[in-house]
Amino acid sequence: MSLLTITDLTVTFGDFTALDDINLTIEEGELRFLIGPNGAGKTTLIDTITGRTRPTHGTITFNGHTLNKRSEHHIARTGIGRTFQTSVVFEELTVADNVDLAASHRLRPWQLLRAPRTHPDHVTRILDRVGLTPHAKAATLSHGQRQWLEIAMLLAQQPRLLLLDEPVAGMSTDERTRTGHLLTEIAADHTIVVIEHDMDFLRRHAHQVTVLHEGRVLTHGDLTTVQNDPQVQQVYLGRTPQKAHT
Ligand SMILES: Nc1ncnc2c1ncn2[C@@H]1O[C@H](COP(=O)(O)OP(=O)(O)OP(=O)(O)O)[C@@H](O)[C@H]1O
Ligand SMILES: [Mg+2]
Repeated sequence: MSLLTITDLTVTFGDFTALDDINLTIEEGELRFLIGPNGAGKTTLIDTITGRTRPTHGTITFNGHTLNKRSEHHIARTGIGRTFQTSVVFEELTVADNVDLAASHRLRPWQLLRAPRTHPDHVTRILDRVGLTPHAKAATLSHGQRQWLEIAMLLAQQPRLLLLDEPVAGMSTDERTRTGHLLTEIAADHTIVVIEHDMDFLRRHAHQVTVLHEGRVLTHGDLTTVQNDPQVQQVYLGRTPQKAHT
């Protein structure tokens, strides 16, 4: 059984079809990249998996449970964590406090009342993993460090599936490289879906790639296969396929 199974998923906003009959499976332990031009429906897909947007048609099954009618909060507790295209950290808190707070989000209110604060070792371990110092104020972080903090906040919630919406957007080359290594490391014990546009980043770090275009899955496969797909070259890279050199 796949960890995540999306069957015949359609999402409409009024007359507009944002996702059009999507079929997609993610296996446990995969690091899957999701690419596609602006407006392809990538964020909408994550929104729908996480219960922020409701499917118009179709089903989403995670670890054997159908998610369709579950609340965003319930889905998060089931083990699906996500980041947003825009940052959600608390500026005035320290890095460690942001992670600590995120860890408690997964608890039900009654558990929160009874639970001790997250064990500092747990927070420290996560921050070591992403390479951040605990006592820095979130407001002082660079753009890249802020993205790593968001990943740390996600890890604190111990999700089984992580959905990352453009984690390297706006990062320097150096930060991108570090993020690539970080994702590979996290993928050792998590399942990850990463939305990413940057082809250079994909060339370095992507294995399996799914291409969305106008709300549909255009193709899926390893990066080389996807890059050589004439349809992908036309719609995603905006150029017509070139003949192979002989
Ligand atoms: N709540 C909404 N109401 C109406 N239309 C929406 C809504 N959310 C998304 N859309 C539309 O659905 C389409 C897909 O948007 P989405 O944000 O999923 O694209 P994307 O692939 O994430 O693009 P980008 O690369 O720009 O982030 C867009 O045309 C967008 O305007
Ligand atoms: Mg998006």
